[in-house]
Parts: sequence; structure tokens; C-alpha cells
Amino acid sequence: MPNTLLILPGDGIGPEVMAEVRRVIDWFGAKRGLDFDVSEDLVGGCAYDAHGAPLSDAAMEKAQAVDAVLLGAVGGPKWDNLDFKDKPERGLLRLRKEMDLFANLRPAQCFDALADFSSLKRDLVSGLDMMIVRELTSGVYFGEPRGVSKEGNERVGINTHRYTESEIARVARSAFELARKRQNRVCSMEKRNVMEAGILWHDVVQEVHDSEYPDVELTHMLADAGGMQIVRAPKQFDVILTDNLFGDMLSDVAAMLTGSLGMLPSASLGAPMENGRPKALYEPVHGSAPDIAGQGKANPIACILSFAMALRYSFDEGANADLLEGVVQKVLGDGVRTGDLMGPEGGTPVSTSEMGDAILAALDAAA
Ligand code: NAD
Ligand code: IPM
Ligand code: MN
Repeated sequence: MPNTLLILPGDGIGPEVMAEVRRVIDWFGAKRGLDFDVSEDLVGGCAYDAHGAPLSDAAMEKAQAVDAVLLGAVGGPKWDNLDFKDKPERGLLRLRKEMDLFANLRPAQCFDALADFSSLKRDLVSGLDMMIVRELTSGVYFGEPRGVSKEGNERVGINTHRYTESEIARVARSAFELARKRQNRVCSMEKRNVMEAGILWHDVVQEVHDSEYPDVELTHMLADAGGMQIVRAPKQFDVILTDNLFGDMLSDVAAMLTGSLGMLPSASLGAPMENGRPKALYEPVHGSAPDIAGQGKANPIACILSFAMALRYSFDEGANADLLEGVVQKVLGDGVRTGDLMGPEGGTPVSTSEMGDAILAALDAAA
């Protein structure tokens, strides 16, 4: 049976970077015998333009049925003033919520060839390999009550930070399981000094640790201090476990340590399906980059590495994932750079499709 893959290129640079991923998928089909049944649909502003909603019910149903979803990016100035429920970002949030993708894995790895492009000194980042595990289906993103209403003569905006014990426990298990395959260390981040939900987060993570994962080293940090430590000495971390909102911010901070937002992939995983594979969506951490969209300048590496994560976590193709990741390192080591990877010394950037060409040529050479 072929592996099924739903591709949702989305808006802005999404379709540009996804076009390069399609070439990579085709390469693995032709040269490594990986048989993918690929379908494509709309998400984000383009879906709103076509159907009046940022994700159609038909696309949602397809996403629920496939082995893995690969998403480009959503959003852009054209849709900034839509009603809240119609905004492109709501399409992505619907996918995460309805597929129950509670564990968002965001690796921040610094490739040696890029250590000088980080905003931190080379020594602080070279060899960096940390994994942020962000809770993705609860917390202040989804808590009720929410909305803007009237209180006397003024408007009040309300969002609710809410976590149940079971929501904390399941994402904690994901983090501990991952840690066992890495350096066996988890640092959990919350704000237990000011939030009751932070106290519960701390206590549940500790309980899951003590009863099920006593062999893993667990530490706790307040999330603000954690942000400071990520910038001060990032290599102290192996797995960072945190909630939806803190994870959103800390993963963008971690992204810059690696040189560019255009480099970072992510996997969003849920519970196992009937075939034993987790429900899964893979996407770059970056957005639709309206400032460079349509110009062939986008770096496709984050999206290509998201496909590598799909090979590893959905298709049990760890060796092919290693091959693809190794080839990306090789190409960067050879000095092939999109505009976002230009250091202070400058140089001539390649286009999105030229980066794709270089990666395909390196795949041919490596295979
Ligand atoms: P962004 O990630 O789109 O862009 C931030 C900066 O990084 C820009 O200067 C952009 O040019 C650069 N950049 C991002 N990806 C790049 C790549 N692959 N290659 C080269 N440069 C790259 O973030 P933003 O500007 O804050 O948001 C723009 C839109 O994207 C908003 O509508 C936002 O909601 C949306 N967004 C979507 C996602 C998603 O789809 N998962 C994630 C973040 C933001
Ligand atoms: C991300 C993005 C999303 C988030 C938006 C686009 C909904 O910033 O994936 O990091 O806030 O989760
Ligand atoms: Mn974000």
C-alpha cells in the first residue's frame, strides 16, 4: 500500500517552498522506491478566497484520512482584516485541534556551516541540537471563555489559559520518550510563580517523571528565565517541554540561534492511528513571509527538513531521513545560500529553485 500524503501549500512563500519539496518527494519515489500517493488541497487565505473558509470540510476530512499532512505556510496582509473566524491562521489551528496534534516537536539544530550566521557567537551555538516540545492543542490558544466584549463603557479582551492534568501528562510523556532517544534530559518551563496552571504543569510533569520515567533527568525553569538561558547558553538544553504560548515564543527565539527561520522544520504529532502511526502534520516553523513572497527568494530548507521529519516519524524511514538531512548539510557546507543565509561578508544568493537543484544534485551524488 502506498503511503498517503496530503500537501497543503498555503499562502505567500508556502507554494514556492512546497514546489521544491515535491521534487524531493519525487526523487525518493524514483530513486529509493518510496511510493507516496500525494494529494493536494487549499489552506489559509487561498482557501478563504476559493471556499469562504480557511479550511474546507472536505480538506479537513482528507487530512484526517492520510498518513501525514505536509503544510507550507498561511497568512498575509490581504487577509489581515477578515473576521477572526475566517483568518488564514484559523485553518491551521483547526487542523491542529481536530487532528488532536498535541505534541509539537521543534528541533533547533545549528549546522556547522551556518554557525557564523547566528546572532550569537559561534562557540555558543556550534553543535547545538535541542528539541522544543510544545503543547499544541490547549492552553491560552483554545481556552474558554474567550472573545472581545463590553464591560461598562469599555471593551475587554479575554483569553483563558487552561490545562487539564491529562493534557499535561500526555505531552510530558512525548518529551520523556524523545529524551530517551537523545541525551536523556528534559527541562520543563512554566510560570508557576504567577499562574495556578503553571503550578499544575510543574507538579504533573514531576509526577509523570517519578512514576514512569525516573531514568530521565528532569529539571524545571520559569519560562522567562528559560528564555534568558536559551540565549545565554543554549547548549545546556536537550529537550525543552513547555506549553502552547511559551513554546510558540521560545521556538522562534531558538530559531534565530541556528541562523535563520528559513531552516527550522517541525512535526506535530497526535495519538497513534489504527495502523500504529501517529496522526501527523509537518510544517516549517516560519510563516508566509509576505515581504519576500513571489520573488523566488525563500529558503526551502525548513520545508524540506519537515519532509525529512515525516520520513522519520510517520514512515519509519529513518535512514532516508538521515540521507536527506545529510545532503542539506553538505549543500550548506558547499556554500550554497539563499538570501536569508547571507552573512556579513555577503555573496550571491541562489533562488528557491536553485537551492532545490543543489539538493537534488547532492541527493543524486550521495545515493
Ligand atoms: P514569517 O516567518 O512569515 O517572516 C518573518 C521573517 O523571516 C521575514 O522577514 C521573512 O522574510 C523571513 N523568512 C521567513 N521564512 C523564510 C524563508 N523560508 N526563507 C527566507 N526568509 C524567511 O513571520 P511573520 O512575518 O511574523 O508572519 C507573516 C504571516 O505568516 C502572518 O500572517 C502570520 O500569521 C503567518 N505565520 C504563519 C505560520 C504558519 O503558517 N505556520 C507561522 C508563522 C507566521
Ligand atoms: C506557529 C505560528 C502559529 C502559532 C500561527 C500562525 C497560528 O506562529 O506555528 O508558530 O501561533 O502557533
Ligand atoms: Mn509561531
